[in-house]
Amino acid sequence: MKKILTTVSAGALFIAGAVHAEPQAEVLHWWTSGGEAKSVAVLQQEFADNGGTWTDMPVAGGGGDAAMQALRARVLAGNAPTAVQLKGPAIQEWYEEGVLADISAVAEAQGWADVLPASIAGHMKCEDIWCAAPVNVHRVDWIWANADVLESNGIAMPTSWDEFNAAAEKLQAAGIIPLAHGGQAWQDATVFEAVALGILGADGYRKAFVDLDMDTLKSDDMVAVFDQMRTMRGFVDPNFPGRDWNLATAMVMNGEAAFQIMGDWAKGEFLAAGKAPGEDFLCASTPGEGFLYNVDSFAMFEVAGADKQAGQALLAELIVGKNFQKVFNLNKGSIPARTDVSLADFDSCAALSSDEMAASNSGGSLLPSYAHGMALRGAQSGAITDVVTSHFNSDMSSQEAVEQLAAAVANSL
Ligand code: BGC
Repeated sequence: MKKILTTVSAGALFIAGAVHAEPQAEVLHWWTSGGEAKSVAVLQQEFADNGGTWTDMPVAGGGGDAAMQALRARVLAGNAPTAVQLKGPAIQEWYEEGVLADISAVAEAQGWADVLPASIAGHMKCEDIWCAAPVNVHRVDWIWANADVLESNGIAMPTSWDEFNAAAEKLQAAGIIPLAHGGQAWQDATVFEAVALGILGADGYRKAFVDLDMDTLKSDDMVAVFDQMRTMRGFVDPNFPGRDWNLATAMVMNGEAAFQIMGDWAKGEFLAAGKAPGEDFLCASTPGEGFLYNVDSFAMFEVAGADKQAGQALLAELIVGKNFQKVFNLNKGSIPARTDVSLADFDSCAALSSDEMAASNSGGSLLPSYAHGMALRGAQSGAITDVVTSHFNSDMSSQEAVEQLAAAVANSL
């Protein structure tokens, strides 16, 4: 349902300037790790350079679950932040609550429709208006490895799950933790969707996690996905529960562990620590076809005050700006959302991401990440993740997990 919306005008800056309103923004985000903090600092700096005053509201917690709880509390209290890191169908869910500002004037003045791929632009629209600004394209289905550890153990990057399992057994026998993992629900879901893409294939993934097709959710292939998760549970160290994702990345960096399955924000950590791709660490897509995308974006919440509305217009303009899209993504590990930013200064992992995104787009296997809130509404993705995490953390059989998965999804509809 369409609600009354604040309109953030592209002219707000100039109009605001005339009445001496200076751009202000309180920005809620969950970018608190080393690489993430370096990335968000780029936006803070650009905002300040353009006369803005930034009030930082970081809410730690990978994947953003804690940030989303903080957001709900603020909106319920009638005190929404000015700008919020928000993505996927959650954008439309908040729009339906009538609390998002309309940033169409900025989007149209800046020609966003001409520089964003249609698939990304679609996530930024609420009915006929622009209601979010995209920052990047993160890929989720990546496997990261310590180059020295693989080399000294005679292991190549795995190209099938069987190869992965064989490599992991060899590493384990050599006293190395095969898989750096943090036991948090969203990290379990991140590994699960990469395994699911590999085993179900792109069509099966789409049927299961976009269409919520019951036959696919209950299929033998889905049993095989849970079997592989059970195998992988045997490859993590005993201290995995509760570990933050960036601490798992650090285990790969220092050679304590060989692999991590994580989105390319992990590359932001490697880079922030001065590590080089191809030398210190390796990147490859997880075994199987397809590309799971996760687009970070910011939505502006309905707020009163010319200074805050000027802040929203300025932020929206900067976020989709060419310079920001380049510098931010060099730090963040992702690639620009804009199609007209040169990747000449980006590394080989970014080039691989960009090439495989284009190939999967034309081959019909470019798919939204369910684990990172791009594919489903919160109730459905939460129902799936609950089953994934309770299976990973118990001795539940794969058959039982599949039955619970189908029942949980059915109940969430
Ligand atoms: C976000 C990334 C973030 C990661 C870890 C993902 O859901 O899209 O920007 O770095 O969570 O916090």
